[in-house]
Amino acid sequence: METIKGFKENFLWGGATAANQIEGAFDLDGKGLSAADFVEYIPKEKRSKDNHMEVTSKVIQDILDGKHSGRFPKREGIDFYHTYKEDIALFAELGFKAFRMSIHWSRIFPNGYDEAPNEAGLAFYDNVFKELKKYNIEPVVTLSHYETPYGLIEKYNGWVGREVIDHFVRYAETVFNRYKGQVKYWMTFNEINIINLSPYTGGGVLSDLEDNPKQASYQALHHQLVASSLATKKLKEIDPEAKMGCMLARMLHYPNTCSPQDVRKAQFENQKNLLYTDVHARGEYPNFFKRFCAENNIEIKMEDGDLETLKAYPVDYISMSYYMTLLASDSPDGEITEGNLMTSLKNPYLETSDWGWQIDPIGIRTLLNDMWDRYQKPLFIVENGLGAYDKVEDGQIHDTYRIDYLSKHIEQMREAVKDGVDLMGYLAWGPIDLVSMSTSEMSKRYGFIYVDKDDDGNGTGERIRKDSFAWYKNVIATNGEEL
Ligand code: BG6
Repeated sequence: METIKGFKENFLWGGATAANQIEGAFDLDGKGLSAADFVEYIPKEKRSKDNHMEVTSKVIQDILDGKHSGRFPKREGIDFYHTYKEDIALFAELGFKAFRMSIHWSRIFPNGYDEAPNEAGLAFYDNVFKELKKYNIEPVVTLSHYETPYGLIEKYNGWVGREVIDHFVRYAETVFNRYKGQVKYWMTFNEINIINLSPYTGGGVLSDLEDNPKQASYQALHHQLVASSLATKKLKEIDPEAKMGCMLARMLHYPNTCSPQDVRKAQFENQKNLLYTDVHARGEYPNFFKRFCAENNIEIKMEDGDLETLKAYPVDYISMSYYMTLLASDSPDGEITEGNLMTSLKNPYLETSDWGWQIDPIGIRTLLNDMWDRYQKPLFIVENGLGAYDKVEDGQIHDTYRIDYLSKHIEQMREAVKDGVDLMGYLAWGPIDLVSMSTSEMSKRYGFIYVDKDDDGNGTGERIRKDSFAWYKNVIATNGEEL
């Protein structure tokens, strides 16, 4: 039997972003407001410990009434709306094969429920795709990356409203028709599991308006899953060559100890995390979920045909973000550390990032093997990276810590490929510094390209190549052989 030596020839190396974290121009050329436009930058010392990403209906009203003075960095991004040509030229210099971006839904349908699309919004993405094509960079496009149009929040409390399914499908159909032949890789919802951790972020759901917020977030999830399947159906009709993927924030849990209680707890946490890909890939809710709902007072309203729709249109590939692993324990005691919208007991074997996220390169090999064994569908790492403080010294940024993080993860990913995992590509998160999703900081930097802008919005916006730029360029040039 022949063994696999390394990454395949057409491996999709590149980087990943989201419209709301880079574009800016939040109210230009007909764009409507979206969930991200109401997320304020709150300095660390003033941030509440639990779920500072959730926005309330009162805060939104105050902002709309001009009674709330704050900074909203996702309205500014890094001005990619105006700098996309220069930025894409830098991605080309890195040798990118693929670039992940999202379409800001409210640029196309300003309120979400409009009958006709906004031509200026469609034209912007025409230009971006044209620019990518110039360098043979394949766009990988997310339809919804925490960007629910405000009109849908106001009218339906976001994805709680079943009506949003039709609005989403109309939006999907519009962009599939417009960009047919130009975009080969689509995905419906970024990190679809986030809707149950931060309903506002994931689904524009204002939990303070709901009697049973947990029930509401799972109802909203069901609507997203049905919408995702219906969008997949549309894509197959409009552009049969294109591929549809789902996207999960993979949160691999290890048992804190080898006690059977902790092992079971870890299994349960992993089952809950994999619920989303189970539905997307297998077309069915897993059995454990029925008991979970019953025990948590969750009753999902479904319409006739919903389950058949989920079954009929599964995704072509499974994509994931991976930043860290977590520990599951039966006991509440122990030191806690931060994570991507989840805290965890501290793992004594792992170091943490400047933001407390546990760094675990071997975890990527473990989870890729797990996911491949479970689904046997092509996998795609569409986010991974280190958010860190960078220092500019004489116009240079010596980010050895980032090179160290990425090289160890890519090395373990290569091991997974040699284990036999079918991996389509690797897209590093934030190849150019961008606004942080969870903290709205600029100082939490992931890029190979530095952007001169600080947390208060000051700076020239100048782009500077960090040391990791030359390093990643060589990784791509050698197809991951030299790390
Ligand atoms: C992922 C999101 O969860 O993590 C991105 O899809 C986000 O939008 C990334 O930016 C990193 O998180 P943060 O909070 O460091 O920006």
